[in-house]
Amino acid sequence: MNGPLLKVENLTKHYPLGSGIFKKSIPVIRAVEDVSFSVEAGETLCIVGESGCGKSTVARLLMRLVEPTAGRVLIDGTDIAGLKKDALHAWRRRMQMVFQDPYSSLNPRLTAAQIITEPVENFERLGRNQRQALAADLLRKVGMSPEMTHRLPSELSGGQRQRLGIARALSLNPSLIIADEAVSALDVSVQAQILNLLLDLQQQMGIAFVFISHDLGVVEHIGHRVAVMYLGRIVELAPCEALFAKPVHPYTEALLAAAPVPDPTRIRLQVPVDGEMPSPINPPNGCAFHPRCPLAVERCRIEVPPLVPMADGRIVACHVRAPATELSAPPIANRALAQIDSIS
Ligand SMILES: Nc1ncnc2c1ncn2[C@@H]1O[C@H](COP(=O)(O)OP(=O)(O)OP(=O)(O)O)[C@@H](O)[C@H]1O
Ligand code: SF4
Ligand SMILES: [Mg+2]
Repeated sequence: MNGPLLKVENLTKHYPLGSGIFKKSIPVIRAVEDVSFSVEAGETLCIVGESGCGKSTVARLLMRLVEPTAGRVLIDGTDIAGLKKDALHAWRRRMQMVFQDPYSSLNPRLTAAQIITEPVENFERLGRNQRQALAADLLRKVGMSPEMTHRLPSELSGGQRQRLGIARALSLNPSLIIADEAVSALDVSVQAQILNLLLDLQQQMGIAFVFISHDLGVVEHIGHRVAVMYLGRIVELAPCEALFAKPVHPYTEALLAAAPVPDPTRIRLQVPVDGEMPSPINPPNGCAFHPRCPLAVERCRIEVPPLVPMADGRIVACHVRAPATELSAPPIANRALAQIDSIS
């Protein structure tokens, strides 16, 4: 199959505030605004950004748990919005999600075996022995003892519960796993074990990940490429190494400057960024980062910066750091998408 496994085009999600029956225009929460990216088979694309920037909404849109206001999600070139019942069923087998809090996402009354095999049983009936054998095999894959098939979630540790969530996601042999803060609730040592497990599974099974995290250390460890979001938009998307070596967008600089540096020999960028992220109900005009940006110029208050491809394969939305110079350039959404395709 040519082309990316997952392609997201101009994805937008606005949540209306109230019913607004008597109002001409209903205010909306602009959770996700014109987001485009692609993911190759076997690749890990990380999404980072402050709380409320729209990361989980992107995940929900990818899983079709919420409908987009605009834009498309394509799997192997097929728009998932157009899928009918059978095709939708088949597509659901290919994409699975792992959540942040394994305790609340696992049914406390089901045994490990029932939890793990539930997705499969949505498609086909399994006999008792088949169910036990499948559950034992998947538990082994995630580094747990097959003896644990009879345990309830309350009888497992936090790390074991997260492994159980991963085993469940693996049960349908997916091509893509969306992990939303999947290791955030775990101790650092357990985090490292789960991350290494995901890397092993990716190598063995060629699974692609969309990995959402606010932890840049985790992202640097696991990511191939990173998309940085600010107030619903991608402001920089770059190969992981390039982004950590030299962030280009002032917001990426600020994020890296704010993150703890595990290696004391690495120079920490000092970029002051004051204040909080503005409300997505009434975002600032122009570049949404301008009220906090130390480099802001007049143009930043007026025009939304387009995503501009840079020579090293990243795309950046900043009038100062990535000015769109070519007058004859095609519309930016197309250019950015072409760039995404060419670097992925
Ligand atoms: N169902 C909803 N109805 C209304 N607003 C929503 C809904 N879901 C999310 N939002 C809003 O959309 C914005 C983006 O939320 P989202 O959960 O995607 O952020 P996030 O980046 O995942 O944050 P966090 O890091 O805290 O998990 C927030 O302002 C949030 O309040
Ligand atoms: S466009 Fe302007 S305000 Fe936005 S990040 Fe670039 S310099 Fe700062
Ligand atoms: Mg979230």
